[in-house]
Amino acid sequence: MKIGFLQFKPLFGQVEDNLDKLSSMIEKAPYFDLLVLPELANSGYVFSNKDELGKASETIPSGLFVEKLSEITNSRNSAIVCGICERKGVNYYNSSVLIGPKGFIGKYQKIHLFDREKLFFQPGNGPLKSFEVNGMKIGMLVCFDWIFPEATRVLALEGIDILAHSANLVLPYSQTAMLARSIENSIFTVTSNRIGTEENGGIELTFTGQSQITSPKMELLASAGVDTEEIKIVEIDIELARNKWLNERNNVLLDRRSAMYTKLAE
Ligand code: ACM
Repeated sequence: MKIGFLQFKPLFGQVEDNLDKLSSMIEKAPYFDLLVLPELANSGYVFSNKDELGKASETIPSGLFVEKLSEITNSRNSAIVCGICERKGVNYYNSSVLIGPKGFIGKYQKIHLFDREKLFFQPGNGPLKSFEVNGMKIGMLVCFDWIFPEATRVLALEGIDILAHSANLVLPYSQTAMLARSIENSIFTVTSNRIGTEENGGIELTFTGQSQITSPKMELLASAGVDTEEIKIVEIDIELARNKWLNERNNVLLDRRSAMYTKLAE
């Protein structure tokens, strides 16, 4: 299996330019089974009013990004996960879509909104679930979801092999934390982060790059620069994520003591 990330700098509100940039980067890439793209890859991140969301968002699955990315996955017999600024009725969601060789497979709407996202987006209400494509079981989370390990754990219990983590990270912690998410759940994680500085309405944010792929053995299989546009693809043995045994007597899922964790469900 070949899995990877694409790291780039979206241009705020320039949906067609962003799609062109992504398409030309992917066109030059070698074969992949799964490629993960950043959060809000169609729109950019620093919104100052809902009109901007109205212009840069799209409906799922009948929007420009899903349609064009489906042409790519179809021609390459591959899968892509991409963060999308989604419009649904009068609401906006910070969403992620999984697209396979036959087109749209499923979406996830970010459940833990970060900072000013709460001014513009509705939080998703799940479910956290696993989607199957090309022999891989994939779960999606978006950026700040990383700080709630319960979300990744639920996806691991749903049977995912690979966590597709589309991000626009501004804090410096997630890259290290994802190594823990990998070992504690025995899964691969692919964080696709964006780069660059975006300024709008007096708010300026710099994104941290350093997209990465981690293994169930807590290895950093690939990582990107802080400020470079790049695609990295690695070969993985997906069976590693299907073996939850650490040793003869310890299994990261079966050894859980759920009765001790009832507070988590309150
Ligand atoms: C984030 O959740 N985009 C920081």
